Amino acid sequence: MSEKPWGGRFESPTNEFVEAFNASIDVDARMYAEDIAGSRAHAKMLTAQGILSQEDCNAILRGLDEITGEINSGEFEFTIALEDVHMNIEARLTEKIGDAGKRLHTARSRNDQVATDTRLYLRRRTADIVARIRHLQRVLVALADEHADTIMPGFTHLQTAQPVTLGHHLLAYVEMFDRDAGRFADASKRMNRCPLGSAALAGTTFAIDRVMTAKELGFDGPTSNSLDAVSDRDFIMELLAAASISAVHLSRFSEELILWMSAQFRFIDLPDAFCTGSSIMPQKKNPDMPELVRGKTGRIIGGLVAILTTVKSLPLAYNKDMQEDKTAIFDAFDNLEGSLRVFGDMLPGITVNKAVLHRAASSGFATATDLADALVRAGVPFRDAHEIVGKSVGHCIKADIELHEMDDAACSAIDARLSVDMVRALSVESCVAARDHVGGTAPAQVRIQVATWKKELKS
Ligand code: ARG
Repeated sequence: MSEKPWGGRFESPTNEFVEAFNASIDVDARMYAEDIAGSRAHAKMLTAQGILSQEDCNAILRGLDEITGEINSGEFEFTIALEDVHMNIEARLTEKIGDAGKRLHTARSRNDQVATDTRLYLRRRTADIVARIRHLQRVLVALADEHADTIMPGFTHLQTAQPVTLGHHLLAYVEMFDRDAGRFADASKRMNRCPLGSAALAGTTFAIDRVMTAKELGFDGPTSNSLDAVSDRDFIMELLAAASISAVHLSRFSEELILWMSAQFRFIDLPDAFCTGSSIMPQKKNPDMPELVRGKTGRIIGGLVAILTTVKSLPLAYNKDMQEDKTAIFDAFDNLEGSLRVFGDMLPGITVNKAVLHRAASSGFATATDLADALVRAGVPFRDAHEIVGKSVGHCIKADIELHEMDDAACSAIDARLSVDMVRALSVESCVAARDHVGGTAPAQVRIQVATWKKELKS
């Protein structure tokens, strides 16, 4: 019985299966550095407040240092009998230093401990994810620079709409990823408050200094309500929401890369190192990485649904249900970080088939809107212009030609206001160049945006 730090009031041992089922060590062992940092801060604060002797504090800090070494070198043995990372480390500390180790848990509970560790751990992981997002943005900006005037068809409803520049298309993702980074930074700022000192739920009878521990751990300050501090999992919800949105963005990008690499599009080719073949069809080169990243989106969103559903209707304060919070966010973060890494590494190796893109933009009547605009400039009301160009397109489909190939007779047969000069002037180059305003697709605008992003991202 004595093995369990909470075993005092129990008469019979834990059911063997329950011991394993109840344990979270497999999941939370990865927070060991944060757990130790929290214990160090707590011990120093207890000592500064005269609650712990300097001698005990020294033994605790030394013991925790040794434990860090043991874990880093792989010799530390985590056991499910000690349930979680908190009790595994505390038990080892006591094994090493005796009574001083047993004094560490004064004015503390695993409830404020786990809330603190998780915030610290996710703060670090969030910073890593933001760094990955920034790297991917830099890669995209460099590609956009290279393809500021590469013309491709822009789509709505996946039907040819108007010509755009590939640089402009890529910068759309730079914008999305920027908002993603902003959401992570925002959530990270909000979670940066220290729950330590909230103890089990109501605070503690000891004269603790919560400002000191908060500062020691790099938090902006202590949380203000102990009940909230031990039962709040909003920060996990927010981070999973941010991760889900970011994954959704990656999935849209993935879908485009997959389409663009197909034999029907042939817009791009992805580097061999990021694709795989088929065991039966020798011709195959499959875009596995974008497909897998698209698939990861499902489990990341699943994590968001899981945490929302787990916390829904939970009474205050801590409930064991909350132990399920970490599986969801850890899995989501691992997979999002991996996805961002793959994209950042894969995209510099992309091959862009400029000629195919140009040809695709030049067919499918992508210049039709510009012909209508030319008629409007000649004084034709827009709705009439729309009708005239619609008829022209109908004519071209039957004649199997493009708009700029219409002759004089065809133009005047459709409408006296339509001139052959107007159709001859149509080109995908002039279509994109004309959209030269803030947010437009013109190469000149892409270059302005690229310069702005380079400064912003310091690339
Ligand atoms: N392993 C637990 C968790 O992850 C730590 C907190 C447990 N607290 C408790 N009173 N059972 O939530």
